[in-house]
Amino acid sequence: MASKSSGTHAHVSHAPLELRRRPRRLRRSAAMRALVRETRLSPDNFVYPLFVRGGEGLRGEVGSMPGVYQLSVDEAVREAAAARADGVQGVLLFGLPDEKDIVGSSAYDPEAPVQTAVRAIKREVPDLLVVTDVCLCEYTSHGHCGIIVDDEIANDPTVEQLARAALSHAAAGADVVAPSDMMDGRIGRIREALDEAGFAQVAIMSYAAKYCSAFYGPFRDAAGSAPAFGDRRSHQMDPANVEEAMREVELDLEEGADIVMVKPALAYLDVISRVKAAFGVPTAAYQVSGEYAMIKAAARNGWIEEPRAMMETLTSIRRAGADIIISYYAREAARVLA
Ligand code: PBG
Repeated sequence: MASKSSGTHAHVSHAPLELRRRPRRLRRSAAMRALVRETRLSPDNFVYPLFVRGGEGLRGEVGSMPGVYQLSVDEAVREAAAARADGVQGVLLFGLPDEKDIVGSSAYDPEAPVQTAVRAIKREVPDLLVVTDVCLCEYTSHGHCGIIVDDEIANDPTVEQLARAALSHAAAGADVVAPSDMMDGRIGRIREALDEAGFAQVAIMSYAAKYCSAFYGPFRDAAGSAPAFGDRRSHQMDPANVEEAMREVELDLEEGADIVMVKPALAYLDVISRVKAAFGVPTAAYQVSGEYAMIKAAARNGWIEEPRAMMETLTSIRRAGADIIISYYAREAARVLA
């Protein structure tokens, strides 16, 4: 740029630079940029989360997540079919049970919303992959991820409950179960329970490196799973740690995880990158509710261009090394890419 300019008639003079390398050559046109683009996003990468409740014909928007709904099973089937039509490969189901108790027993009720939705989606949209979230926080009256003994989440009894929930999802026809609880040893126990019951073909996507994050806030609205007291620091990971994430992933792979997940995504791109580089296994990343809500809120204020921010963040997650991206933007992004 000229250092002194007057209006539009700035006189620019310079001696030609003798540059042998001019990186800008590769950015001059859309065609050139497309040729040299390193990271490709595809609808094949996306998994779309759905919140399923009881009742019929119900579709209630989540206040903190515009465009995301709590759906009765019939509406969830409709949404799943629409996602498939957009090119999305899988849905991830969360349940809003009618009943909660202190041990989360509705998590393994075969007639609960998730189990019913799995059967209905596999019947109506058979080529769509159905993944189920396995955790107790949506099912316990206190909103914690496990059974409370002496004011602590008791690991081993909780793992038994999780195995029951995973089994009920597999029995309903889930292709993949995704434990998000962060209890110790749950992958091994779930694998064993599935194999014993004849579900050796059901895959496990482990929320292996799940951080204790502020970005889950809107989800707890959507799933009604905010803890009634305390927090989740005794089991979810400290945001400051990455070596620990590597150990968590290693353990889950040893125990039989087929896919490992890092969650949230945007604040943990370095973790995604290290996990993918070190283990080379199918790696998922979850663009969580707060990441979605931030973009939505800024866009609604006219402060950010939503489609660009959506694609830029999704691309960054893919560039970091994620093979699978779980995102509330899955349908919208798939339509942009179509
Ligand atoms: C636990 C679970 C949570 C999310 C996915 N599974 C909430 C939590 O750990 O508190 C968060 C997902 C999101 O924020 O989008 N069942």
